Amino acid sequence: MKIDFAGIAVPNQGTIVVAVLEERVLGPTGRLLDGRTGGALSRAIATGRFKGKKGQQLAIVAPNGLTLDRILLCGLGKASEVDVPKLEQLGGSVIGTLNKAGERSATIVIDPIEGGSLSVARMAAAAAYGAYLGSYRFDKYRTKQKDDDKPSLVEIVVMCADVDGARAAYSPLERIAEGVYFTRDLVSEPGNVKHPEAIAADIRTLSAMGIDVEILGEARMRELGMHSLLGVGLGSARESQLGIMRWNGAPDGFDQQPVCFVGKGVTFDTGGISIKPAAGMEEMKYDMAGAGCVIGLMKALAGRKAKLNAVGLVGLVENMPDGKAQRPGDVVTSMSGQTIEVINTDAEGRLVLADVLWYAQATYKPKFMVDLATLTGAIVISLGTYQAGLFCNNDELANRLIAAGKAVDEQLWRMPLGDKYDKDINSEIADMKNVGKGREAGSVTAAQFLQRFVNDVPWAHLDIAGMAWMKNGDSALVPKGASGYGVRLLERLVHDYYEAK
Ligand code: BES
Ligand code: MN
Ligand code: ZN
Repeated sequence: MKIDFAGIAVPNQGTIVVAVLEERVLGPTGRLLDGRTGGALSRAIATGRFKGKKGQQLAIVAPNGLTLDRILLCGLGKASEVDVPKLEQLGGSVIGTLNKAGERSATIVIDPIEGGSLSVARMAAAAAYGAYLGSYRFDKYRTKQKDDDKPSLVEIVVMCADVDGARAAYSPLERIAEGVYFTRDLVSEPGNVKHPEAIAADIRTLSAMGIDVEILGEARMRELGMHSLLGVGLGSARESQLGIMRWNGAPDGFDQQPVCFVGKGVTFDTGGISIKPAAGMEEMKYDMAGAGCVIGLMKALAGRKAKLNAVGLVGLVENMPDGKAQRPGDVVTSMSGQTIEVINTDAEGRLVLADVLWYAQATYKPKFMVDLATLTGAIVISLGTYQAGLFCNNDELANRLIAAGKAVDEQLWRMPLGDKYDKDINSEIADMKNVGKGREAGSVTAAQFLQRFVNDVPWAHLDIAGMAWMKNGDSALVPKGASGYGVRLLERLVHDYYEAK
C-alpha cells in the first residue's frame, strides 16, 4: 500500500475519511461536503449512536453530488483531547474498515482543530504512520490467495494544508515503521527459513545503512568461553551465531558511551531433550522475537539517524533434541566463569542471554542494557497479552521504560527481583541451576538467573512472551500475528531520554 500526502481537495474516487469531533462537530471539509450534498452528512449523524466519540465510525454511501464511493466519518473525541495516539489509531482503524469493505483508494482529510494543540502537519503524519503500521500483512507464502482475501487498499492519501510539514514530520516515523516491519517479517518467518545463519545474513544487510555489523560464529564463541549459549545449539544442525550491530550516531562532544540492546534469538524452541508437547509447538518459531525486536530497532535508529551510540546484540540459536544435544543435568561453564547446572533444556533462553549480556557489558561498558526475550510461559499467565513483564535493577531506567511504553501503547508492568527468589536457583553441584522451584514465580526466577550475569550496570529485562505474537485479534496498529512489540517502545526511550537534541 502506498501512502502519500496532498493538499485539501475533494477527491472524485474512493473513500473520503473525515474526522468528526465529539457532539457531532464537523470540520471545514466535513461542512463543505455537507453543503455539496444538501446536508447528507449532518442528517446521517443527527440520529443514531455516532456522536464523534474517539474510535466511532460511520460509513455513508456517497450521496448525489459527489463522484466518490463513500464517506467514512471517524470520531476523534473532544477537541481539547485530540493527541498523536488518537490520530495514529484513526489511521490504523481506517485501514481495517476499508480493506473489509473492499475499497481500493482512500483519502484521509486532516483539518485544523479549533481548540486543539497539534499542527495539521503533525496530525497528518500521525494518521499516515498509524495507517502504515496497521496495514502490515505477511502473505508471501500464500500463493493461491483469492483476490477477495487480499487487502484491497492500494493507496492512501493524507490531505492537509501543510504538505511539506506533513512530509517532514512523517519521514522519521516512516523509518521507525520500517523497523517494525523488519521485525514483523523476521518473527513471521518459519524456523526452517530463518535459522541462525539466515538471520545473521539479514543483519548483514543493515551495513548498507551505516550500521557496523559483526557476526561471531561458534569457533569464536568457543574461544570466548560462551558454553552456556553454545550448549543450547549442540543439538542443532545449524551453527549458532552472535549478531552485533553498532550504530554510531553520537555527535562530537556528546556522550559517546553506548546503550546496549540484547535479544533472545532462539530461531526454534522444541525444548531440546526436555521436549515440549506437540500441541502448539509451532508457535515456538517466534522464540526469536526479542532478537527480531533488537534488529528492527537498530534499523529504525539508523534509518532516522538517531543521535547516540547504540549497540544491538542478538544470540541466535536453535534448540533441538539430538544425539549431540545437551542433557538435563549437564553442567556448563559460561563466559563469566560461573557454572550452570542445566536441569531443564527447555529453559534455554536464559542460557543464551547469560553469555550475550556478559559479553555486552564487558565489551561495551554501556550506559544501560535492556534485554528482550520470549522467556517464560509464566509471564503469559501473569500478564496475558496486554503488558510485558519488566524486571529492572534501576528505578530511573524502569520509570523511563514505563513512561515510553505508555506513550506508544506498548505497556510494561514492573515485576519484582530479590534475594529470596535468587536463592531458588542455587544448585547442589554448580554455581546455579537454570530453573527455580517448580512453577512458582517462573518469570522472576528466570530474571534472577539473568541478573547473575549483570554487574554494576543499569539493566532491564523485558519478558515479551505474551506480547510478541497476537493470536487473538488485532488492534488498529497491530494486526494479528507478529506484533513487532518493543521497537516503538525502545525507539521512544532513546528519543526521549538518551539522544543529543
Ligand atoms: N520460549 C519459551 C517461553 C515461551 C512460552 C515463549 C510461551 C512464548 C510463549 C521458553 O524457552 C520456555 O520454554 N520456558 C519454559 C521454562 C521452564 C522450563 C522453566 C516455560 O515457560 O515453560
Ligand atoms: Mn524453552
Ligand atoms: Zn524458548
